[in-house]
Amino acid sequence: MEPVLWSIKYRPKTWEEFYGQEQAINQLKSYAESRTIPHLILYGPAGTGKTVAAQIYAKKTLGDAFNSNFKTLNVRDIRSYSIAKAKRKISALAKLDRSKRSELDEYMSVVFREAKASLKVKGQTRNPNRSQLLHQAISLFASTITVADDPLKILVLEESDALDKNMLQALRRTMERYSGVCRFVLVTPSLAGWNPAIASRCVVIRFPAISAEHTEAILSDIASKEGVDIEPLGMKALVRASGGDARRAIDLLQICATDEGNVTEDLVHTHSDTPLTKGVRTMISSALKNDFVKARDILRRLLTSEQYSPTQVMVQIQREVVKRPLGDTKMRHLIDRMSEIDYRMTQGKNPHIHLMALLASIGNLPENEAQ
Ligand SMILES: Nc1ncnc2c1ncn2[C@@H]1O[C@H](COP(=O)(O)OP(=O)(O)OP(=O)(O)O)[C@@H](O)[C@H]1O
Ligand SMILES: [Mg+2]
Repeated sequence: MEPVLWSIKYRPKTWEEFYGQEQAINQLKSYAESRTIPHLILYGPAGTGKTVAAQIYAKKTLGDAFNSNFKTLNVRDIRSYSIAKAKRKISALAKLDRSKRSELDEYMSVVFREAKASLKVKGQTRNPNRSQLLHQAISLFASTITVADDPLKILVLEESDALDKNMLQALRRTMERYSGVCRFVLVTPSLAGWNPAIASRCVVIRFPAISAEHTEAILSDIASKEGVDIEPLGMKALVRASGGDARRAIDLLQICATDEGNVTEDLVHTHSDTPLTKGVRTMISSALKNDFVKARDILRRLLTSEQYSPTQVMVQIQREVVKRPLGDTKMRHLIDRMSEIDYRMTQGKNPHIHLMALLASIGNLPENEAQ
């Protein structure tokens, strides 16, 4: 039997199966029911239900026309799709084994020919470039005629943060041109750098990180269906390690469950640790014990042989430090110091020195004031 990922097996299929995200779901539900179908931007961190919600929304909105009038395109996949592959003709693809050609291969073959034809109309004989292919991939679905009695189509653009300024401009025109027949759902991790002209044409819906209570509920539900026992501290460790990402929480539970026995805190640590999390944990402990030399050696190893970037190390230090029971004064001092170092790393030439300075000050924190 094919191994099944629990995050796929237990993917919500109806609104009722969602945990949390009430505001987002209520909004989507009411658009689907009232058939007021605006363009949408769904944004939020990984594993918070954006893709699943977009699918349920499209199913509810399109009903029987879902199979013909719904499409998902991943912007990054198309941007990195090779021109040589796109050049293959459908007839050549048809000769390949099913496992060697995907739906995207077939779609991109049509897109390439359409893009080439539209260049020819403009008197150009060259091949389309990647951004022209992307533009064509979007407008091909948006512009094609739909099933007669249900004219509405929904196009989901996953990883829309990979659209650059020019692509967003082109998308804005495409959205306007075909807005009578096609609604866009743009999915992105954050709204930073978004073109306000696009955002103002869409309803923006936020998917915040899944709360600890909801992560626990999702995990308990799956554990009882799969007959897995999670110890209370194991549950806490799963919630902590997943950081509001339901996919990560479920995947981690599944990995832990392949070992014999209950899911314990140690087991979760064993499976969730990376060289970065482990290294930073020991580094901070050493720095707190004033063992600067050991802390500095670990830092060097992380940045050189493990090849983590100074920013990755800094982010992990922040995550690790806030978990420590340092007391008010020390914690305040340390947070202040981290923000200073974070700033210096962006301004200075050698981030290694600033990280080392941070380690030195961790070993030299002021005593906590009496409460
Ligand atoms: N609110 C939720 N309730 C229950 N399960 C959830 C929820 N959010 C996510 N999941 C679980 O996490 C998996 C991943 O969700 P989804 O693919 O929708 O995340 P996403 O927000 O699109 O993440 P990414 O940004 O990484 O694409 C789902 O298959 C489901 O198992
Ligand atoms: Mg997704």
